Amino acid sequence: MPLLSVESLRMYYQVGRGFVKAVDGVSFNLGKGETLGIAGESGCGKSSLALTLLRILPSNARIIDGSVLLEERDILKMNEETLRKEIRWKRISIVFQGAMNALNPVFRVGDQIAEAILLHEDVTKEEAHRRARELLKLVGIPPSRADNYPHEFSGGMKQRVMIAMALACNPDIVIADEPTTALDVIVQAQILKLLKDLRAKLNLSLILITHDLSIISEICDKVAIMYAGKIMEYGSAYDIFKNPLHPYTQGLIAAIPSIRGPKKKLRSIPGTPPDLLNPPSGCPFHPRCPYADEICRQEPPPLVRLGRDRYVVCHKIEEGSA
Ligand SMILES: Nc1ncnc2c1ncn2[C@@H]1O[C@H](COP(=O)(O)OP(=O)(O)OP(=O)(O)O)[C@@H](O)[C@H]1O
Ligand SMILES: [Mg+2]
Repeated sequence: MPLLSVESLRMYYQVGRGFVKAVDGVSFNLGKGETLGIAGESGCGKSSLALTLLRILPSNARIIDGSVLLEERDILKMNEETLRKEIRWKRISIVFQGAMNALNPVFRVGDQIAEAILLHEDVTKEEAHRRARELLKLVGIPPSRADNYPHEFSGGMKQRVMIAMALACNPDIVIADEPTTALDVIVQAQILKLLKDLRAKLNLSLILITHDLSIISEICDKVAIMYAGKIMEYGSAYDIFKNPLHPYTQGLIAAIPSIRGPKKKLRSIPGTPPDLLNPPSGCPFHPRCPYADEICRQEPPPLVRLGRDRYVVCHKIEEGSA
């Protein structure tokens, strides 16, 4: 049984004119120690999915249906108190998108980590500060830097602090939402290495959200390609990079710049993701898809299972074609 098993999850935002279908039928599994990468362009619902898993949602969000099983227990059926006392930060924690800029400039970094620990765990102040220093060391920052203020830290160090906070209560699963996006390539590589090291050291399961597929190819065991609130293709990283089946996945892979391979012209996918308040009829990717025909314009695409942990949501794929 996987550690986390998400089935047909739907979460819509209610807005004046209707519903923004931000998470529209998402299924995946995550095993202990596994890393799942969730990739897709801006506005496809990646952050919304992350927030739905932990039910940290704005008041206009409506979970429509589905299940989020952590071992046997459905997070969607838990009450607020159970979520707060047993699940958030203790079993599943999250490094929010853009969080490193959310450090409070007027408090010392160590104090902010200790404060986060005190909020979630029944420990003394001294113990929380001791743990804060231990966590800094774990993410590669000298514990003596605990007394510094955020402006004395580089972007990469701030992101390490956010990762330290996510680890404060020894979770089984860490969700990292675009953890390297604002960083230059060298620091990006350092943060990815940190995540890899932590995963091995702590036997963590990771959900890594990014719009950058090259990051996923480096660190993930499994990949979910998200478009218009749906996972269009899901499978092992090996299978997806070797044999991408969905035209959207193929487009994203063709757009990865390569410094090693022969120089090739980068092909970006023409067009932009749809407005999720009024998504296109049929397959939401059809207006951008080179293979779209009448059925794609009219009928929602089927989920075609190609193995226990592999599926594609597309009219053009038949069972057994992987
Ligand atoms: N509180 C909200 N109310 C209404 N719509 C929202 C709300 N939050 C997000 N949305 C919409 O939900 C959709 C998915 O947004 P989300 O932030 O999950 O995408 P994303 O894939 O994380 O994008 P990015 O790569 O830019 O971070 C977008 O159309 C967005 O405008
Ligand atoms: Mg996002």
